[in-house]
This record gives sequence, structure tokens and C-alpha cells, in this order.
Amino acid sequence: MAELCRIVDVLAAADIANAEAASTTHPWSSTMYAESIEGQDQVFAYHAEQQQAIGFAVLLQVLDEAHLQNVFICQPWQRLGHGRQLLQQLMQHAAKQGASRMLLEVRESNLAARQLYLSCGFRETGQRKHYYRTDSGPREHAILMEAQL
Ligand SMILES: CC(C)(COP(=O)(O)OP(=O)(O)OC[C@H]1O[C@@H](n2cnc3c(N)ncnc32)[C@H](O)[C@@H]1OP(=O)(O)O)[C@@H](O)C(=O)NCCC(=O)NCCS
Repeated sequence: MAELCRIVDVLAAADIANAEAASTTHPWSSTMYAESIEGQDQVFAYHAEQQQAIGFAVLLQVLDEAHLQNVFICQPWQRLGHGRQLLQQLMQHAAKQGASRMLLEVRESNLAARQLYLSCGFRETGQRKHYYRTDSGPREHAILMEAQL
């Protein structure tokens, strides 16, 4: 049975950042994860069948709004249904904590994540133009998405 575990030890930040750097094109830094663990965010490890953590997520809950700040599945375990399970568990967790909706931003070019969010009940509510830096060239738009919990 897959499960979410809250990370409270700031020493985990470097390991999460390394795992993300090996799995995604625009990873957070170790410092960003450390600030999240020490601050108001909730950082989760996702364990599939009590094995090692194969995914991570960062959630910020403000009153009845849950903001999904980041989520990833480690590369060898992508496309196996874990991203959907992780997201569904995060949505259930946020609802239990009193959130009535979940909000997020995603790069316009990130079609895999956008498809995942749509399949979990999110809808697109707007855009932030030229929001994300790219490795080269013009900045990229953010797509704003929202789901009722
Ligand atoms: C986005 C991400 C979390 C999806 O996790 P995953 O475990 O690979 O996704 P799942 O296997 O649960 O797939 C769920 C749905 O997402 C969509 N999807 C996932 N990967 C996809 C891909 N490479 N191309 C197209 N659609 C994809 C599909 O709709 C899929 O449903 P289906 O299998 O029924 O077609 C993962 O690809 C990832 O970590 N990406 C890098 C980090 C990232 O982009 N995070 C989002 C930041 S906003």
C-alpha cells in the first residue's frame, strides 16, 4: 500500500534535491527544500509498498486553500501510475485538513503534468505570462489550475 510520510528533518533536503535533479528538467535546489521543511510548507515523501521513497511533494495550506508547490516521481518509477496515486493522496490529505480546493501552477510545455492534473479533476483557470525561466530563450507561461476537494 503506497503511503505519504511528512518530512520534518531538514537534512533530507539535499537527498530530495538530488533525486529531483536526476528526474526532472527544472529541479528545486537543496536550499529551497530546506526552506520548505523549516517553513510553512508540508514536504512529503511517497513510499510505494514500504520501499524507498520514489516521489516527493510540497504542499502549502492556507485556510481552505491547498497550494501544490511541487511534485515529482523519481525517473525509474514514472509512467507506472504513481504520480496519480501521489496526487490523489495529497488531495485527500488536504481535504482532511480542511481545504476545499487545491491550486497549482505548471509550465505550459509540461504536457505530462498537465494531463495528469486534468485526469485528477483539475481545470485550467488562467495563465501567468512569461512566468518561468527557461534554459535559453524567452520565458515560459505558467498555466494556473484548480480542483475542488
Ligand atoms: C508529472 C509526473 C509527476 C507524473 O507522474 P507519473 O507517475 O509518471 O504519472 P502516472 O503514471 O501516474 O500517469 C498519470 C497520467 O499522467 C499523464 N502522463 C504522465 N506521464 C506522461 C507523459 N510522459 N506523457 C503524456 N502524459 C503523461 C497521463 O495522462 C497519465 O495517465 P495514463 O497513464 O492513464 O495515460 C512525472 O512525470 C514527473 O515527476 N515529472 C517531472 C516533474 C514534474 O513535471 N512535476 C510537475 C511539476 S508542476
